[in-house]
Amino acid sequence: MTPTIPSTDADLFADDVIADPHPTYRELRDAGPALWMSRYECWVLPRYAEAFAALRDHDSFSSGSGVALNEVMNQATKGGSVLCTDPPDHDLLRRILGTRLTPRALRGHSEDFTRRAHVLVDELIEKGSFDAVADFSSAFPLSVVPDLLGVPEDGREHLLTWASAAFQAEGPMNERTQASLPSLQEFLEYMSGVAGEEKLTPGSWGHQMLLEARSGEIDEKMLPLLLLDYLGPSIDTTISALSTAIWQFALHPDQWDELRRDRSLIANVVNEAVRLEAPIRGFARHLTRDYDIDGVTLPAGDWVFVSYASANRDERRWEDPGRFDIYRDTAGHVGFGSGIHSCVGQGLAKLEANALFNALADRVSRFELAGEPVWNVHNILRGISTLPVTIHS
Ligand code: HEM
Repeated sequence: MTPTIPSTDADLFADDVIADPHPTYRELRDAGPALWMSRYECWVLPRYAEAFAALRDHDSFSSGSGVALNEVMNQATKGGSVLCTDPPDHDLLRRILGTRLTPRALRGHSEDFTRRAHVLVDELIEKGSFDAVADFSSAFPLSVVPDLLGVPEDGREHLLTWASAAFQAEGPMNERTQASLPSLQEFLEYMSGVAGEEKLTPGSWGHQMLLEARSGEIDEKMLPLLLLDYLGPSIDTTISALSTAIWQFALHPDQWDELRRDRSLIANVVNEAVRLEAPIRGFARHLTRDYDIDGVTLPAGDWVFVSYASANRDERRWEDPGRFDIYRDTAGHVGFGSGIHSCVGQGLAKLEANALFNALADRVSRFELAGEPVWNVHNILRGISTLPVTIHS
């Protein structure tokens, strides 16, 4: 007798589910560790243990065929970016990107970030009331990383749209994905233009890579994609984590007081924000071999959506998972992924957050919500789009 395949007709990419995803994630977790998503003809792993195991087993769960839920993107991206390669190609790209993102390499930028953070916080104190997403969370990701990379000012006004489109296109082939493709094409053209015409600021990361390409250390053809690997994933993700943290500190002023008293707590803020509301909802993997989960065989060749967001809320792994708690031991959360593809830029995001929350802690005693957060409707990214707040010094 053929065993019944556990399946779900839940639509993780419907507007209403995207707007309020946690009840659906919970339904999926309660239904089983691996479910066939009939609407998208792929598996979903909604629980922590199986999601974590899949991310650690890159031989079975390959990224080299792409990590999107649609064939167009997978054909276009496979084997190109660091995200969409398997070893050994992956390891080479990861080494090139990683050298500038080690704690030691990043330490050199700490003073500059602190200075910028104080300027920003002074401006916000002056304003008193503002949109925490546009006026606070977006400021660093839209200036710091482009500056580090050395990309010209001209074109930066499109970065938010382009970077968001790059993630959007990783979803299933729905209207949102289709609408994002022209923007993604523009992003690629911009990066090719920047890499090709020596527009990169001397001394910047981008310029260093250009010189490495000229001296044959890296393949010059890879340069636009390497620039994109730095820039694309660095914007919305960091904006989302910073916004979630501000929202939660407004809801839990006691935790803000504790952080002001003990600045060592800042180190855990991004981890807890990213655990609570994972900025990347999930990515797909392609199975290279049959894989058994709880008596069910997921056949080689199938696609599997690993839900970082649901895994991070799994009651089987986390106590009171819906509660923001800066004292929580967040080790092992998958909001930055896990295994060989785990986020190579998380140190940079944390350094940005460290500078910003330290500057806020110096001067701000309270965040008060001046309206409810409005969430983006996006295939892959979870993030607040507007968060009106008033701050008190
Ligand atoms: C709070 C901010 C961030 C979050 C939540 C985040 C999340 C993630 C996640 C979940 C992955 C794993 C993808 C996978 O499993 O396939 C990842 C990979 C990656 N991230 Fe981040 N990220 C953040 C910031 C950044 C920044 C600032 C950069 C660039 C400087 C960056 C660059 C990358 C790259 C290049 C990869 C691919 C690594 C690989 O495939 O080996 N990310 N990120």
